[in-house]
Amino acid sequence: MKPKDLRLMALLAPVKGQLERMREVLAEELRGDSPAVADMTDHLGRFKGKQLRGAVVLLAGQATGNMSDEHATVAAIVELIHLATLVHDDVLDGADVRRRVACVHARWDNQVAVLLGDLLYSRAFGRSTELSSRLCSQVLSATTRDLCAGEIDQAASRYHFEMSLPEYERIAGAKTAGLYAAAAELGASYPGGTAEARSLMRAYGWEMGLAFQIVDDCLDLMGDKQTVGKSVGTDVEDGKVTLPVLHVYGEADEATRAAIRDVYTRAGLAERAVALRGTCDLTAGIERALLRARALVESARGRLASFPTSPARAALDRVGDYVLERKW
Ligand code: IPE
Ligand code: IPE
Ligand code: MG
Ligand code: MG
Ligand code: MG
Repeated sequence: MKPKDLRLMALLAPVKGQLERMREVLAEELRGDSPAVADMTDHLGRFKGKQLRGAVVLLAGQATGNMSDEHATVAAIVELIHLATLVHDDVLDGADVRRRVACVHARWDNQVAVLLGDLLYSRAFGRSTELSSRLCSQVLSATTRDLCAGEIDQAASRYHFEMSLPEYERIAGAKTAGLYAAAAELGASYPGGTAEARSLMRAYGWEMGLAFQIVDDCLDLMGDKQTVGKSVGTDVEDGKVTLPVLHVYGEADEATRAAIRDVYTRAGLAERAVALRGTCDLTAGIERALLRARALVESARGRLASFPTSPARAALDRVGDYVLERKW
């Protein structure tokens, strides 16, 4: 965790103890199988992210009155899968910085980064077989399958400036909302819980996660590497037409559209996101994208209404503001 994100620390206070336990399980799973693997897993263990998905497992468990001894392990498994997706994602996106340090493939190389991502998936699923029910394995295998399909569909849709908004959301949902949905669902139902709580929490996680990815796409376009703590501009660099750009392109005249396409495709152009900002006014596109993120967060909050008031429910509610206002 970035030490000065006091807001995040306060947000996660209701599950502080279980988060510590989650980090212990993560550390166990990040122990290396060989000196070379240990070198890489140490790197991953040292540079932590927000751990928001793991926290959602714990908060959903507490808010639904369903917290068990196994929740911290489920949370660690969710974070391990998230970590695996990041290691692979940085290879796919040609990013060089993640969590303020060099990405695994930049520090080592693509070959070992692919293998390390695979190793993290296998650690996660191996650990899930030790749980008292198969639910975690079932939910997360479906989630990772959808996530991979979403990444493939995203790659197949590069330079698709006329992508429909439902198609954008379907891909962003599969990539990111699915893991948040799984986190909230598993928290509410691991291993017991009611079908209603499970479905409400799943919907909460999906909408929060989709808002999270929309904000992420805005940060990639407008943010700076220093603040965001990871490479930015990679979406434009790699032909990914994200929600703010879809809005701007959809409203633009033909000359502006041609200029946008040129920034995305002209051979040898450096800093394409910077060039895009100079080519057209992205403000309206960003505002419209954030409006959608806000509506999703509001809807997610509404899903919490039937759970009894508690610090964990309040924290899940406040996750919404954090998702919308986050800078990294
Ligand atoms: C990054 O997620 C990947 C996306 C789905 C956008 P986070 O921003 O939660 O990454 P960390 O774990 O905090 O580094
Ligand atoms: C994240 O999408 C999807 C994942 C499954 C990791 P991004 O490619 O936008 O994530 P960042 O911006 O690199 O963290
Ligand atoms: Mg990426
Ligand atoms: Mg990506
Ligand atoms: Mg991104």
